[in-house]
Amino acid sequence: RGGVDLAGKRVVVTAGGTREPLDPVRFLGNRSSGRQGVAIASAAQARGAEVVLIAAHLEVEPPEGVELVEVQTALELEEAVTEASRAADIVVMTAAVADYRPAETRDAKIKKSEAGQTLTLELVANPDILAGLASRKRDGQVLVGFAAETEPDPSALIELGRNKLAAKGSDFLVLNQVGWSQGFATESNEVVVLRKGGDIVMEASGSKLSVADRILDVIV
Ligand code: C5P
Repeated sequence: RGGVDLAGKRVVVTAGGTREPLDPVRFLGNRSSGRQGVAIASAAQARGAEVVLIAAHLEVEPPEGVELVEVQTALELEEAVTEASRAADIVVMTAAVADYRPAETRDAKIKKSEAGQTLTLELVANPDILAGLASRKRDGQVLVGFAAETEPDPSALIELGRNKLAAKGSDFLVLNQVGWSQGFATESNEVVVLRKGGDIVMEASGSKLSVADRILDVIV
């Protein structure tokens, strides 16, 4: 691809997995590697966009030349993406954001000697960042969400995606199946893209970079 069809556009991409601290040495996290989000940031940059990458925990290097904002938790990610999206034409929420965080973060290590044989953690819901962005979206801004689901049945997966898209209110939802050996830490991906209303607008599989370009084609 030689085109610069995103020249002059400001694109915000979130990537990676958030980490919610339990104590100074432990966190609740997820297996997102950040590969798909980083691929979208690189592809958007190659197509001429000015890119802000909001990076939760990444297992890959962020691309050079993007504005990098590093965050740990869902609340930090919310603050960063809310700020960056004010001037953005396109916001792509690839990050795997924790739905819950520990109700309290201890100042000292949680000790086995105090907890005994079972330990119950109380969690509280994080805000749904994507739904919040959608409710404040400007005219002309394009908002893209992701949904990583373990549902094995393809038609049930699409149904889940349609419900999620409606609940979040984004313009597009990129749906992919994840599992123990699929989706998150892998080099390739297989996605279905739904647009507002629920129609399937694109299906792609291949390297995360090629999938990124196909997703940008849809957005453009
Ligand atoms: O509800 P679920 O976590 O499956 O939704 C996934 C999409 O919503 C992703 O785009 C993710 O970045 C976003 N999300 C969010 N705030 C949360 C949880 C997920 O914006 N608290």
